[in-house]
Amino acid sequence: MTIYFPSQVVLEVTSRCNLECKGCAVHGPDSFTTRKTSNMSEQDWKVAIKEIGSWDKELNLTAHGGGEPLIHPKFREILQFAKTFPKLNTGFLTNGMLLNKEWSEFVVSIGLDWIGFSIDGVSPETHRIVRKKSDLEVIEKHLLELLLIRERSSIKEPSNKEPSKSPKPLITLNMVAYDEVYDQKEQFVQKWLNKVDNITISHYRNPPSSRRALLVPQERKPCFLLWSQMIIASDGRVGLCCEDFNIDFPLGRVGEKPLIEIWNGSEISKLRKLHEAGDFTSHPMCRDCDTWSDNIIQKTEENKNLGFKMLHRASQTEYKPLNEPLLIHN
Ligand SMILES: C[S@@+](CC[C@H](N)C(=O)[O-])C[C@H]1O[C@@H](n2cnc3c(N)ncnc32)[C@H](O)[C@@H]1O
Ligand code: SF4
Repeated sequence: MTIYFPSQVVLEVTSRCNLECKGCAVHGPDSFTTRKTSNMSEQDWKVAIKEIGSWDKELNLTAHGGGEPLIHPKFREILQFAKTFPKLNTGFLTNGMLLNKEWSEFVVSIGLDWIGFSIDGVSPETHRIVRKKSDLEVIEKHLLELLLIRERSSIKEPSNKEPSKSPKPLITLNMVAYDEVYDQKEQFVQKWLNKVDNITISHYRNPPSSRRALLVPQERKPCFLLWSQMIIASDGRVGLCCEDFNIDFPLGRVGEKPLIEIWNGSEISKLRKLHEAGDFTSHPMCRDCDTWSDNIIQKTEENKNLGFKMLHRASQTEYKPLNEPLLIHN
């Protein structure tokens, strides 16, 4: 029997947040989740990280879910613990409000692998509207501080050593193309393109729908997420996939049995078989989803006038300077 291992584990260290963004499934005005928000218990994050970190496989540990990870009172310990497992490529997305200088010094000092800031555009006024309770000026100050601290730390490398080619953490930006900020897309890319490592602009999806209606192919294929992405919610339950915002279809929970058994258990195996047989409608979660197409449609484009190239996918577009390679996702 084939044993499957995920290539990404999403560890939702907390489902709580300090903002109320427009499209957020958990905290936005149209939130539809009813699960109780919580910080993940020490028992759960330790057990989960210890197990995934000891698998004989390199994987991406994404330490955020439907909340703001910096809210978790033990987030530093969680990251430090994860960094003791060399096979884990660890990072998280943040709204940036709490990522002050001390935090930046900390993430650089532990060699965190990646960090993504969610910033929706270039105008503080519209930012406040789509990311309610946020302050773009504070977030940009935090981002610039992190860039500077990272740069200083790479200069400090001993002179006999080659300077690190990709200083850590890798810094990425994700903007959601809400109607209110849609016309700021190019300005946003131009503002940050040569300062950060990667920029993505996500298509807005109106929760609970996962439809983005862009670039979705006619012919449906089995969903790659069923084989690649494990979701562990803040209460320790293992969700079906990233679309299972309310954890309506739990596969099990941390601690009840090894995660690898849950990931190869009967529930998810049944769904994998349905997908392989071309049945995408029997499961209510899959029926109305287009996330499955994210690794299928990948269209590249260049904008020589503005100096960037783009990789379009169903959920988002990635931007890079013309002379840098695009990350083709599998
Ligand atoms: C749910 S947040 C969690 C992490 C963190 N609190 C943050 O804001 O980065 C993850 C990402 O989803 C994005 N997002 C939220 N609602 C969305 C929507 N309706 N459509 C597309 N992306 C959305 C956020 O902007 C953020 O980049
Ligand atoms: S900061 Fe992130 S988790 Fe918080 S409301 Fe915004 S999108 Fe949701």
